[in-house]
Amino acid sequence: MTTAAHVPGRTAPRPGGVGRAPHSPFDDRMALRRVDWDAPSSAAFYRSLEAALEPRIESDGMDPVRNPYAPGAGQRPPELAGRERELRQFEVVLERVARGRPERSTVLTGLRGVGKTVLLNAFRSMAIQRLWGTGKIEARPEQSIRRPVAAALHMALRELAPRHRAPDRIEHVLGVLKAFAQAKSDDGAGAKAAKGGPRWQPGIDVPAVRGRADSGDLEIDLMELFVDAASIATDLGVGIALFIDEMQDITPDDISALCTACHELSQNGGPLIVVGAGLPHLPAVLSAGKSYSERLFSYTRIDRLSRSAADYALTAPADEEGVDFGPEALEALYRVSDGFPFFVQAYGKVTWDHALRSPITAEDVEIAAPEAEEELAVGFFGSRYERATPAERDYMRAMASLGDEPVQTTDVATSLGRRPSSLSPARDSLIKKGLVYSAERGTIAFTVPHFGRFLRRQPD
Ligand SMILES: Nc1ncnc2c1ncn2[C@@H]1O[C@H](COP(=O)(O)OP(=O)(O)OP(=O)(O)O)[C@@H](O)[C@H]1O
Ligand SMILES: [Mg+2]
Repeated sequence: MTTAAHVPGRTAPRPGGVGRAPHSPFDDRMALRRVDWDAPSSAAFYRSLEAALEPRIESDGMDPVRNPYAPGAGQRPPELAGRERELRQFEVVLERVARGRPERSTVLTGLRGVGKTVLLNAFRSMAIQRLWGTGKIEARPEQSIRRPVAAALHMALRELAPRHRAPDRIEHVLGVLKAFAQAKSDDGAGAKAAKGGPRWQPGIDVPAVRGRADSGDLEIDLMELFVDAASIATDLGVGIALFIDEMQDITPDDISALCTACHELSQNGGPLIVVGAGLPHLPAVLSAGKSYSERLFSYTRIDRLSRSAADYALTAPADEEGVDFGPEALEALYRVSDGFPFFVQAYGKVTWDHALRSPITAEDVEIAAPEAEEELAVGFFGSRYERATPAERDYMRAMASLGDEPVQTTDVATSLGRRPSSLSPARDSLIKKGLVYSAERGTIAFTVPHFGRFLRRQPD
């Protein structure tokens, strides 16, 4: 029953190593092959099924239903590890803003999958706990922020309204918000929408208040709207936080308008803050919008997790389920994940499903890693690769061939045997698609960690 001779069609070699009899996941899959699917009677079938599954049932294998890990864009991790400093800093920001102290808007930057969105969401929860009004937008290329900002501030005001003692003040600001939302924007997307069909109904149940925040000039309108919205928060001794994810995708005109509005707010001490998150070149995008943006925003670079934080991200949720990791397993997981939060979750999840019992061992990791890699190749890397045109793929492959550090654009050109200027369109559209960024002038790097390695493994 336990020998390979009973296993029909054993073709694939067991991934990653030797001698883990009798309970490796591979053996479990093999065990199912031992079931006599063509049994002459149902009794015989069930006998073979029971015999095949017996070793699995006897082992205290890990329950996939209780697998705590959460690889996925913006997926709340079971444990937000290694971000204590950022959370503490944000506590201070909230406190200062609510007290009318000058505070710069916070901007998180980092590579793909490093945990910007979940940190932004954690910040939002902190603000909500302090009874702030909050709203969030995700910027999209070539889309004006006017309507998304209107919707987000509408949400924030709705959170504050029930506690406010003067309904007419709320009604007035909602009326301003409605006029802001409906204004015929100078900005491209808004203008297009205004031409193209009926005016957007923001679902605000009050008449629009004309003459404020509705000039069509986003810069002026945002300033006026922010000041009015902030005044409602002031009445309540709280603040409003507007969260903007994928902030690098805001159009240049809108970035400039947003900077001016933030500048105005920082000067008059209104308790409204913008909290942004985006790719590493976001500071460059902001300073292209307004040269004083460096003084306007406080930038926090979100990086991969330290060894101890990555260990904690794995062990704390497992602990809750009564499961341990052996020290070598943690070491192996750090080696493959490199501390990148998305990879920590992805490898953690597959390893859990493959492990047979606690404590999880290095061998469990070794067996699980190829499957995790395959999942990443399809989901995390492949989905992004698919978005690139053939010319863009060539460009990225050339980058990958030069190593994992930021590379000189001139070296990319040399490796492709082309003039640098002829490659600008491919490079620019890769930047627009968020696949690469310009780390410093003349250099280029992947926004997706380990992307170079993924590309080098692809067949030509
Ligand atoms: N501090 C952390 N500890 C543990 N896991 C984390 C942490 N931060 C993020 N993760 C996990 O990492 C993954 C990616 O997080 P998130 O989507 O926030 O990254 P991101 O930086 O916003 O990526 P992108 O640039 O692609 O939007 C999620 O599965 C999340 O659960
Ligand atoms: Mg994100």
